[in-house]
Amino acid sequence: MSKQILILPGDGIGPEIMAEAVKVLELVNSQFALDFELSYDLIGGAAIDQHGVPLADATLACARAADAVLLGAVGGPKWDALDRAIRPEKGLLKIRSELKLFANLRPAILYPQLAEASSLKPEVVSGLDILIVRELTGGIYFGAPRGIRTLENGERQGYNTLPYSESEIRRIARVGFEMARVRARKLCSVDKANVMESSQLWREVVEEVAKDYPDVELSHMYVDNAAMQLVRAPKQFDVMVTDNLFGDILSDEASMLTGSIGMLPSASLDAHNKGMYEPCHGSAPDIAGQGIANPLATILSVSMMLRYSFQRSDAADAIEQAVSRVLDQGLRTGDIFCAGNVRVGTQEMGDAVVAALGTL
Ligand code: IPM
Ligand code: MG
Repeated sequence: MSKQILILPGDGIGPEIMAEAVKVLELVNSQFALDFELSYDLIGGAAIDQHGVPLADATLACARAADAVLLGAVGGPKWDALDRAIRPEKGLLKIRSELKLFANLRPAILYPQLAEASSLKPEVVSGLDILIVRELTGGIYFGAPRGIRTLENGERQGYNTLPYSESEIRRIARVGFEMARVRARKLCSVDKANVMESSQLWREVVEEVAKDYPDVELSHMYVDNAAMQLVRAPKQFDVMVTDNLFGDILSDEASMLTGSIGMLPSASLDAHNKGMYEPCHGSAPDIAGQGIANPLATILSVSMMLRYSFQRSDAADAIEQAVSRVLDQGLRTGDIFCAGNVRVGTQEMGDAVVAALGTL
């Protein structure tokens, strides 16, 4: 039976990068006889314009029915002034939460060809291969109570809550350990246990789970130190597991080690490996419509989809090899461009990956 892939291009550069990822997906679909059927829908600002909400119920139903979801990016200044409840980002948070995609995998891998595009010295980043496992459906992103209230003295106060239950911590810790087990067997759990109770429980529960994984070396690090260590000596890390907010921040930081956030894919998985796949970067409204965005993070997200949701590492490897070959050819979008490279636009980059796939 054919597999249903729901494509949600979203806003800003979303539709541009998605068009290239879809070219790649359609090619591997036929090359590897994957029997994928693609359908399209709206999310974020595009959905607000059409339906008045950032994620329509019908779209959510399609996402539930699909075997995997591929998403571009959401948001933009056009929708910034809207009521908080219907901002584009709410659509993204809702689909993550409704589909119970609690495990967000964000690999930060340095392609050797991009060593000079990194903001760090080549020797500090060469060979870099980190996996950030970010908890995605809990913590301060979803915690209640939250809001903006007026105090008795008439002053307004914004407030949020950072709750983590044992079961939420346990299941994301397990993902961290399982991932570490098939890599370099090192897991660093990142928290702020010197200040926050939710982090103290996080650390305790991670320690409990560690008993089931004696083959994995566990360490703990405060998030401020982790942010510093990531730029000081990033190769000390193998897998990092952390909460929703810290993971959001650290994954942006880690992305720059690899040359550009335009290179970073991600997978968001539920307990049964049903997943949504999206680049880690945002909708970049400042460059939207110019045809210069880097489509590689989205193309590499297709590769993660093949690997995690469909166990097709053959097709996933082929995409990664094709990307590497294109980088060998010196082709670069502006975000990863260095002197001596060939500057290309979004479409040329996508076409080059498609061409490379054809010659593998
Ligand atoms: C990400 C993004 C989102 C997040 C935004 C767009 C809501 O920054 O996927 O990292 O904060 O999770
Ligand atoms: Mg982010």
